Amino acid sequence: MQAHPFTPAQIEQFRNDTPGAAHIVHLNNAGASLPVSSVVDTVIQYLQEEALTGGYEAEAKYKQELADTYTLIGRLINADPEEIALVENASTGWCIAFHGIDFKPGDEILISELEYVTNMIGFLNAEKLYGVKMVVIPNDEQGNFSLKQLEAAINPKTKLIAVTHVASTTGGLLPAEAIGRIAARHKVMYLLDACQSVGQMPVDVEAIGCDFLSVTGRKYLRAPRGTGFLYVKQQVQDKLKTLFIDGHSIKSISENDYQPLGDAKRFEFYEKNRALTLGLSKAVSYALDLGIDQIWERISHLAALLRSKLGEIAGVQLHDTGDQLCGIVTFSLSGVNCQQVKERLAEEHINVSVGLAKSTLLYMNKHQLQNVVRASVHYYNTEAELDMLCAEIKTLM
Ligand SMILES: Cc1ncc(COP(=O)(O)O)c(C=O)c1O
Repeated sequence: MQAHPFTPAQIEQFRNDTPGAAHIVHLNNAGASLPVSSVVDTVIQYLQEEALTGGYEAEAKYKQELADTYTLIGRLINADPEEIALVENASTGWCIAFHGIDFKPGDEILISELEYVTNMIGFLNAEKLYGVKMVVIPNDEQGNFSLKQLEAAINPKTKLIAVTHVASTTGGLLPAEAIGRIAARHKVMYLLDACQSVGQMPVDVEAIGCDFLSVTGRKYLRAPRGTGFLYVKQQVQDKLKTLFIDGHSIKSISENDYQPLGDAKRFEFYEKNRALTLGLSKAVSYALDLGIDQIWERISHLAALLRSKLGEIAGVQLHDTGDQLCGIVTFSLSGVNCQQVKERLAEEHINVSVGLAKSTLLYMNKHQLQNVVRASVHYYNTEAELDMLCAEIKTLM
């Protein structure tokens, strides 16, 4: 792997585009990345225009730019714009897809051990509400998702494969495309939580073959908080129940019935924050300009470097397992509480986060982890910043 898909001058430029990078060492990109100034300016400027010209009037003026958001997202994940619904966060998108499925008592849902808490609550709720059963496909000894066990678990009752591409509290990666091939072979619906992967690595819904993909804006996409989207494959849109729907999501209504829109906008509500939509659009466009492959290469390089540097410090335990790892680096320090680590680092203007057991409950319980320190790198981080983190960790030890 190349150490430098970007030149030092380009990295300098990315950092100049990111006002926060001058003030803090931000290694909490899996929480929320630092936005670039053009994203922030877009949001502020739009809000000002709304205040001066009126909300509906500003929307009319920016109709094309707002519509372009769907096109840009489509380009990012290789989908049609008509397959994208804009939502406020990944959880909303995931819930719209999941609870839209016509579950019947006895149906089985195959899940991974890396499911985020929102998804776990969804599965537990579905067991109570619909009489379905969740079946966990555990990772093997090496921390890899078992495709063999997935395929063996599929039976006529299997309704859905619902897995998480990259977990919240560990740095492993699920083989999303191989899972998709199994789902297609057995004609099982496939919902992928790509909250932590989109913006970090190439995610191609066509290659993955998923029916649904839920994503947030604020993490690796570097978009404002309160943004996200749901991809719903065109062929399954009519099969998904529209439980929550408003007048914007219909073609027509009579006193006895209504016709939903013919695209994924039927899964949206009309009222949303247009300023944030444009901010999301700007962030997606910035990522596309840089190149997702290059972004992924740089993140992979920084994360591998960080793991190797942390691994050299006595008393540091690295927790990421699996053959394929990403920008989320999780670890703990012997005898030092994770929260204390985070607070001590914050005093030195280094942002990391604490991954709680509940966030990825099955994985954390299996590995008997209460919590972990999570340092999540992005392409705008530098090798020098990783050294600063490691120097502080050494003093903590
Ligand atoms: C793997 C994963 N899925 C889903 C979510 C939920 O995302 P949101 O907070 O945007 O709903 C998170 C948030 O941390 C996550 O890490």
